[in-house]
Amino acid sequence: MDFIAGTLFFFWVGMLLMLLCSVSGAEHYSSAVGDPGMRRDGLRIGFEAWNFCNEVGREAPGMGSPRAADCFDLLGSKHERRRKHREHRSINSTLRLKHRVTEADNKLGVGKSFSGLNPDALNDPDLYAAEKELYLGSLCEVNDTPRPWQFWTIMLKNGNFDTSSGLCPENGKKVQPFVSQNFPCFGIGCMNQPILHHQETHLLGNGTMMRGGFNGTYDLGYFGLGGEEDISYFEVIWEKKVGVGSWEFHHKLKTSSKYPWLMLYLRADATRGFSGGYHYDTSGMLKSLPESPNFKVRLTLDVKQGGGPKSQFYLMDIGSCWKNDGSPCDGDTLTDVTRYCEMIINPDTPSWCSPRSLPNCPLFHVTPGNRKIFRNDTANFPYSAYHYYCAPGNAQHLDGPTSTCDPYSNPQAQELVQLLPHPIWAKYGYPTKQGDGWIGDARTWELDVGALSSRLYFYQDPGTAPARRTWTSIDVGTEIFVSNQDEMAEWTLSDFDVLLTSVKS
Ligand SMILES: *[C@@H]1O[C@H](CO)[C@@H](O)[C@H](O)[C@H]1NC(C)=O
Ligand SMILES: *[C@@H]1O[C@H](CO)[C@@H](O)[C@H](O)[C@H]1NC(C)=O
Ligand SMILES: *[C@@H]1O[C@H](CO)[C@@H](O)[C@H](O)[C@H]1NC(C)=O
Ligand SMILES: *[C@@H]1O[C@H](CO)[C@@H](O)[C@H](O)[C@H]1NC(C)=O
Repeated sequence: MDFIAGTLFFFWVGMLLMLLCSVSGAEHYSSAVGDPGMRRDGLRIGFEAWNFCNEVGREAPGMGSPRAADCFDLLGSKHERRRKHREHRSINSTLRLKHRVTEADNKLGVGKSFSGLNPDALNDPDLYAAEKELYLGSLCEVNDTPRPWQFWTIMLKNGNFDTSSGLCPENGKKVQPFVSQNFPCFGIGCMNQPILHHQETHLLGNGTMMRGGFNGTYDLGYFGLGGEEDISYFEVIWEKKVGVGSWEFHHKLKTSSKYPWLMLYLRADATRGFSGGYHYDTSGMLKSLPESPNFKVRLTLDVKQGGGPKSQFYLMDIGSCWKNDGSPCDGDTLTDVTRYCEMIINPDTPSWCSPRSLPNCPLFHVTPGNRKIFRNDTANFPYSAYHYYCAPGNAQHLDGPTSTCDPYSNPQAQELVQLLPHPIWAKYGYPTKQGDGWIGDARTWELDVGALSSRLYFYQDPGTAPARRTWTSIDVGTEIFVSNQDEMAEWTLSDFDVLLTSVKS
């Protein structure tokens, strides 16, 4: 060994030892998603649209079932990609995208069979959509450990509810049509599914960039899609530099007088079983399910337009399902309960929980030091850290007057814990003051979602063992909650990752 080589040898051994030391004893991370940080050139993205109770109801004419996907592999040799970077020039002759989902697949709708379709689902729009999602998932699937994964999910929801339609159950129980003025609906057909346009991902800039997107409207008679007034609109455009950085997902969501309540999220859902708010088998991105308290979420968010005072922008919405006795959900909508925790970052959002409105507050708050503060402890309870709490409509043993959640907007009962930025969340890396993460405050967040969600109050029947808090949907986006004028929200999401933490001793 000559002198230089010897020095180098010891240098590398030293580096290796330093690396090992810095890893041991510290927190150790592994990603729960199939595409950590959204960096994979071969994108996998799915689309799903939901009516008020997370079903289809009726397909939009000519659109097929409201499930779609854009999944492809980037072909071209590594050598050529490397040379392209070295020489700062593009070699577009060799790079190409091989798509796995055809437009015919995306247009599949009731009455059209596909491989694996259960005949009972052929003419049922709700069951058909659930099976189409699994079919698209099978086309997009990527093998991985501990299990294969399918895609990121774009979820779009129309909040109109025609109570005379009989389409939505009440806390999971079938109910007769009824008359009510409590929900937005312009008349028959208000719960429709959208027109969906798809721009398949393609290479541009001489093969240095990739871009694709979904867009559309709920206004069915409308085909122009320009800047016209009072037309609802949604758009998600994804783009990425080949071989560099994260995909960027640019979102737009616009309400109109006919569609004043719309939701648009990008979700990392479970790859199988149920995902938040959905009582069918699902496809998704979470190859491992994160469980409280041992996970964090990292993402970059740039909110460009807020969507007005009613826009409940969620910098983290997590969804799961367990029964009131703490046992896992099994598809029985009478006893399954969807559970959500949402941090709302729009500074226009007031706190409905207050010393004078205790029913809108969770029964207690738990501090990072595990001190329990009851909501009637007016000297200590952090009221302004909560927007709204509502208990499941089928809870039998509530401790004092408590608001219950809307019984119709999920296929089963639901429970909501909605948070607002507040200094008490600082320990978890969450927004601590109004305006954090909002327009002009683009940031990369590392949120200790696991630790925070382990200390939230969720209803359970007395004397039952605490539920395992395993989360089947982790998402970001906005719910424009019955706006009284047309509103536009616009934001960009990138670098999304769910990190499982375990402390190595
Ligand atoms: C929506 O997407 C279609 C197809 O990609 C495109 O032609 C159209 O311009 C888009 N609409 C708007 C308003 O951007
Ligand atoms: C594509 O590459 C050619 C040759 O390197 C260059 O002249 C041209 O400007 C490039 N076009 C774009 C859109 O980058
Ligand atoms: C890349 O593609 C563009 C148009 O698609 C073409 O004009 C250009 O000549 C191509 N460059 C190379 C290096 O092949
Ligand atoms: C506050 O609420 C808790 C739980 O419901 C109850 O046990 C306690 O007696 C209440 N305290 C007062 C002062 O009302």
